[in-house]
Amino acid sequence: MKLSSSLLSLVLAAVSVRAAISEAELKENTAKGLRLISLEDGVDPVWKTEDEKLELMRAHRNFFDMTEVYEPNAATASPKSFAPLATYPSPSHQTAVNAIIKTINLSNMQNYLGNLTAFNNRYYKSTTGAAATDWIAKTAGDIAARYPASGATVTVFKHSWVQGSIIARIPGTTSGPVTIIGAHMDSINSSNPMNGRAPGADDDGSGSVNLMEAFRALLAAGFKPTTPVEFQWYSGEEAGLLGSQAIAKSYKAAGTQVKAMMQLDMTAYVKPGVKEVIGLVPDYVDAGLTSYVGSIIDTYSTLDWTTSPKCGYGCSDHASWYNQGYPSAFPFESRYGDHNPLIHSASDTITATGFSWSHLFEYAKVAVAFAYELGI
Ligand SMILES: *[C@@H]1O[C@H](CO)[C@@H](O)[C@H](O)[C@H]1NC(C)=O
Ligand SMILES: *[C@@H]1O[C@H](CO)[C@@H](O)[C@H](O)[C@H]1NC(C)=O
Ligand SMILES: *[C@@H]1O[C@H](CO)[C@@H](O)[C@H](O)[C@H]1NC(C)=O
Ligand SMILES: [Zn+2]
Repeated sequence: MKLSSSLLSLVLAAVSVRAAISEAELKENTAKGLRLISLEDGVDPVWKTEDEKLELMRAHRNFFDMTEVYEPNAATASPKSFAPLATYPSPSHQTAVNAIIKTINLSNMQNYLGNLTAFNNRYYKSTTGAAATDWIAKTAGDIAARYPASGATVTVFKHSWVQGSIIARIPGTTSGPVTIIGAHMDSINSSNPMNGRAPGADDDGSGSVNLMEAFRALLAAGFKPTTPVEFQWYSGEEAGLLGSQAIAKSYKAAGTQVKAMMQLDMTAYVKPGVKEVIGLVPDYVDAGLTSYVGSIIDTYSTLDWTTSPKCGYGCSDHASWYNQGYPSAFPFESRYGDHNPLIHSASDTITATGFSWSHLFEYAKVAVAFAYELGI
């Protein structure tokens, strides 16, 4: 289903001679409804119609839609500052973290996922996609309100499209650097994004409910971090990492320091006949943070981890943070390639073969441990 690599290199040869995009070109083409799409690392983005963009999505071709974040005045294409190989101490708060892990409640995650999958879809431009933002903001807001002493806040990060991203923040006793755990709240039916059924139970309802329950469990335990911890639910991941790019860019512009960003995108599927593992994605991540996540898994999960094959350019929201020079990591539901084949369809449900609540549960443990160990 992907473009063959020979076709791809022809396409790349054709576009790589382009000059960087000017402010005038950006304005003119955006007004025409064109989208600026980055398909490959180190190559200038190209203009696509909405239909061409949908074709890419149907072909499972990952990309960044940079239309709203592209910097025409940046010196050259690809002005990335690559993340340093960050170093992190070994996990050392086993007593406190294990006590919180004991309070993680699977029924809560089942209820959250029941509510999220009940929306016809959570597409970033649909009314039900916008309603899903309201639901997440309300649910996280109700949790924060139950623990006022935490000072936790929930805000909607608005975009130019209807579905907002959501940020739930547990303040630190100092202002930073912040530890972020992300998931994407949108879902997509690739044959009919606006109106088709897309329960998105695994992609990415699973990561979304992991975040909600980790947020709840930490607040219920009276967690008071030294440095802030944020849970972020991104809008429009399926449409080119839209929400995460906007937020990562705004953090960079504000000079916000980020200690670590961990993405949870698809945490519930175990391929029948394959050993159950957590796959650590090796590309567009920070190697030091990724090995730290491995040590968190060793310390707190019953699962083993393995290094996954690459998931590729623009594969999930960790890449938006990586592109801004922040350290990110991405523990995935399996080795890439052994993942859920039913995503982006009406069949991505909790009753699908391979959907595993006990597998999903382990990622809530990893989220709690990651937040606690890095925030405390
Ligand atoms: C887990 O959550 C459910 C509601 O989702 C609640 O009824 C139950 O009491 C909770 N269990 C524990 C041990 O807190
Ligand atoms: C939605 O969540 C509420 C409580 O949080 C729960 O009582 C209800 O059953 C959930 N709905 C679905 C469809 O799971
Ligand atoms: C998209 O949704 C329609 C119904 O809403 C469904 O019949 C179709 O199978 C879905 N497409 C995919 C790829 O699941
Ligand atoms: Zn996803």
